Amino acid sequence: MSDEHDNLFAESRAVTSGFRFDEQVVKVFPDMIARSVPGYELVVPMIGMLARRYAQPDSRIYDLGCSLGAASLAMSLAVRAGGTEIIAVDNSEAMVTRCKCNVDKNGGAVPIDVRLENMLDTRIENASVVVLNFTLQFLDREQRQALIDQVAAGMRTGGALIISEKICFEDDQEQSDQTAWHHDFKRAQGYSELEIAQKRNALEDVLRPETEVSHFKRLQQAGLTRPRRWFQCFSFASYIAFK
Ligand SMILES: C[S@@+](CC[C@H](N)C(=O)[O-])C[C@H]1O[C@@H](n2cnc3c(N)ncnc32)[C@H](O)[C@@H]1O
Repeated sequence: MSDEHDNLFAESRAVTSGFRFDEQVVKVFPDMIARSVPGYELVVPMIGMLARRYAQPDSRIYDLGCSLGAASLAMSLAVRAGGTEIIAVDNSEAMVTRCKCNVDKNGGAVPIDVRLENMLDTRIENASVVVLNFTLQFLDREQRQALIDQVAAGMRTGGALIISEKICFEDDQEQSDQTAWHHDFKRAQGYSELEIAQKRNALEDVLRPETEVSHFKRLQQAGLTRPRRWFQCFSFASYIAFK
C-alpha cells in the first residue's frame, strides 16, 4: 500500500468533470495534495503545534474531512493535554480504510477514532480543537453556516477552530495573479499544462472557494471571535478563530 505518483490527469480525458475522492485518488493522494496545495506540508505540522497550545485536558479534538489522517497524526504526536481523544471523520470509504491503516502504524500518544461519516452528521461535543483542513470548500455553500454553527456550539470556551481553504479574491486582477502563481507552482511540481487544465475542470463544480471576508463573516455569525489568518501561500490560506 505504498503511495503512488499522481498522474491521474496526465492522459487526455473525454469527460473531466466531477472530481471524487475514490480509490484512484486515495492511491496518489499524499503526492497529489503536496504538489497541488502550496504550503500543505507546512500547514499540517503547524496544525499539530496549534493543537498542542489549545487542546484542553479531558476534551475532544475533531478532524473533519480527515482524508488519510495527516492532521490527526500531527495532532496525535504533538498534543500533551491529558485525557484527549481525536475524532477523525471522512465520508469517503476508500479514504477511511487507508486512514485507519495509517493511524495504526503512525499514531502518537493521543488516540484517534476514525469514522466513516458525513461531517454534517458529526455530533461535536466537548471540543477544544476542531480542524477543517481543506475540507469546508467541498460542502455546498448553503450547508457551510450550519456546519460552523454546529461546530461552534460544541466547542468549549477557549477552544480553537482551524480552517484551511483555497480562497478567491474580490479584485479581478488579484484573482488572475493568484491563479497564475498557483499554476506556476504546479508546473514547478512537474504537472503538465494538460494535467493542470483537466484537474481544474474536474474540480470546477466540486471545490467552491470563497473570499476571506465571507469566511470571517461566517465565523463571527457562529459566535466565534478573533478570526485570524495565520498562513497564506497564493490562494491557499489557513485561519483560526476562538470560542
Ligand atoms: C482535500 S481533502 C482534506 C485533506 C485532509 N484534511 C488533510 O489534512 O490531509 C478533502 C476531504 O474531505 C472529505 N469530505 C468532503 N466532503 C465531506 C463530508 N461532507 N463529510 C466528510 N468528509 C468530507 C473528502 O472525502 C476528502 O477526503
